[in-house]
Amino acid sequence: MKVVTTGAGDPEKYMDMWKAAGVKVIPVVASVALARRMEKYGADAVIAEGTESGGHIGELTTMTLVPQVVDAVSIPVIAAGGIGDGRGIAAAFMLGAEAVQMGTRFVVSAESIVHDNYKDRIIKAKDIDSTVTGRTHGHPVRCLRNKMTREYIKLENEGKSFEELEYLTLGSLRKAVQDGDITDGTVMAGQIAGMINKKQTCKEMIDEMMAEATKLLNR
Ligand SMILES: Cc1cc2nc3c(=O)[nH]c(=O)nc-3n(C[C@H](O)[C@H](O)[C@H](O)COP(=O)(O)O)c2cc1C
Repeated sequence: MKVVTTGAGDPEKYMDMWKAAGVKVIPVVASVALARRMEKYGADAVIAEGTESGGHIGELTTMTLVPQVVDAVSIPVIAAGGIGDGRGIAAAFMLGAEAVQMGTRFVVSAESIVHDNYKDRIIKAKDIDSTVTGRTHGHPVRCLRNKMTREYIKLENEGKSFEELEYLTLGSLRKAVQDGDITDGTVMAGQIAGMINKKQTCKEMIDEMMAEATKLLNR
């Protein structure tokens, strides 16, 4: 089965092309309005992603967004943002989601190719260690606090434009992911980083989380 998932924006102009090619389309949405529009344009499911997530984010939390999207559309809803263990998975199912998407926890997996410095920074992170750059420019990105985010947010607060600040973020994800520069690079990670404290294989993570979620859902 061919599947395309899209993030950070509105993929409307590509939808007809994908549908004509027999591709299943699952866009990430951060609002009810976008979820409804994606359903109208033929999306097969939507990923309702809350602001807790790592990377490009919207405003609503997973807790508030997921049930509102579930009520608004009849296609399956996948919950994302702030899910880090079996409790989070069970909670997402209780909100009406049929599946979950997780990012931050899998960044530290054995299979993940990010630099060990990046993984260790996530493992060390506390609950309040993430911040958001780019809010004033309409391109908010959640990452872990460091020299780069402090400088970016300071200049943003001084009214500097997106273009003026691009020098701080151009190639900055590569810097962190490949070179392990967690001081000047962008260490994208979500608020759940504070709860992630061990490196495991994906299989170990999934087995552990599914056992916990199943136990909770059968309680
Ligand atoms: C390092 C990192 C990079 C990401 N890059 C993208 C991306 O390029 N496109 C996208 O749609 N989402 C991206 N995401 C978001 C994830 O796909 C996922 O929805 C999100 O991480 C879920 O929230 P969580 O981090 O709390 O698990 C990224 C997340 C992380 C942590």
